[in-house]
Amino acid sequence: MQNYEFTKEELAKIDKIIAKYPNPQPAVMPVLWMAQEKFGHVEPEVQQLVAKTLDLTPAHVYGVASFYTQYYKEKKGKYVLDVCTSFSCQACGAYDTLHELEEKLGIKAGETTEDGMFSIQSVECLGACGYAPMMQITNDVYVNHLTSEKLDKVIEGLKQDKLPEFEPIPLVQNREPAEEK
Ligand code: FES
Repeated sequence: MQNYEFTKEELAKIDKIIAKYPNPQPAVMPVLWMAQEKFGHVEPEVQQLVAKTLDLTPAHVYGVASFYTQYYKEKKGKYVLDVCTSFSCQACGAYDTLHELEEKLGIKAGETTEDGMFSIQSVECLGACGYAPMMQITNDVYVNHLTSEKLDKVIEGLKQDKLPEFEPIPLVQNREPAEEK
């Protein structure tokens, strides 16, 4: 079993986080995030480390970690592909996209490819409903208006560790200029 520990520098950073709050509870989220960035996940042993470091019960840390899909409660692939399957994305074909992605990578949602490169997750609304269907890559880059071609391009890019470029999307689309009165 891996021995999970924070370094002296990381503990000093955690002390600064704790000092911002009247008690350690609110520090759980940023410290879980720190832990995930360091270890790649927050498996139960990592949650225990966070609990011990913040002098909280493991149950409290588990309660926070288990609420958010953004915290990985088990080891994941290098790239985690979160396909939104909430209402707007669903109405724009999110399940077709999800199943196509599953077929392309040879795994189901919730699984990781054998080479450890990709995991797929079906997730709740990512707050980009206007750009449906969409997905997020490892809690970071959004890929909007997914098509089969776009999925191929993204997967090929990620195999070479290239994240897709940020896609600027105008806030107001296809609106006619208002008529003057
Ligand atoms: S429903 Fe998919 S981003 Fe909101």
